[in-house]
Amino acid sequence: MRADFLGPNDSHGVIHEVRLIGSPMLLNSRPFLFGLLMVPSLAMLAPLALSAPLRVPIRPTGEAAAVLLILALAITPLHVLFGPSRWTLWLTRQRRAIGLAAFSYSAIHTVVFSASIGSLADIIAGMAWASMWTGWLAFASLAALALISNDASMRRLGRSWKRVQRLAYPAAVLTLAHWLLVTRDWTEALLWFAPLALLQIARAVVTLRRDKRRA
Ligand code: HEM
Repeated sequence: MRADFLGPNDSHGVIHEVRLIGSPMLLNSRPFLFGLLMVPSLAMLAPLALSAPLRVPIRPTGEAAAVLLILALAITPLHVLFGPSRWTLWLTRQRRAIGLAAFSYSAIHTVVFSASIGSLADIIAGMAWASMWTGWLAFASLAALALISNDASMRRLGRSWKRVQRLAYPAAVLTLAHWLLVTRDWTEALLWFAPLALLQIARAVVTLRRDKRRA
């Protein structure tokens, strides 16, 4: 079984057959998990049906996109640190669904934002602000990743598919910058990103030690 959306798996880029004995079958289905992850978007958009201002869903959809992106990027470090186990293998297998859900929330976020501005000229003018271009660049990176998140692209791109997947890291940095720039209170953004940063550092240390031992 090959790696999925957002980043490498083990050092060979290959994960082992996932055996989830006793796990509910539905949760092993990527479309089902994707659907499940998208259910909260209905609640986020529901206020619009009650004539709430268009900007109301911007915040929750942005946060959902950021949190799912963080989760998708945490999967490889968790796998490296805790080894292949039932839950790390499940997460690895479901990374594509989680990554696509992150992109989908960011797409809803972007559409609602654009609709709330209402004029293409104003949207383009707004891109001059760092708080906005960081968001647009993060969105473009997630869109590129979503576009190649399928078996046909994996086959077509071969080895470079994995390199393109690394776009997820700049996307996360841009998302953090965007979050910090659009909000005065940095607590929430830093609380969500700190565990990911720690996991990535721990993963780098473990990988370096492992490589040294092998050399
Ligand atoms: C496509 C370009 C984007 C634009 C124009 C944009 C615009 C905005 C705006 C105007 C806000 C402030 C909302 C408010 O305070 O009511 C915001 C907040 C936010 N956006 Fe974006 N965004 C974009 C892309 C993204 C992407 C790709 C992500 C995540 C992957 C993201 C995550 C967030 C987060 C986490 C917040 C902060 C929510 C909070 O205040 O707690 N945005 N965005």
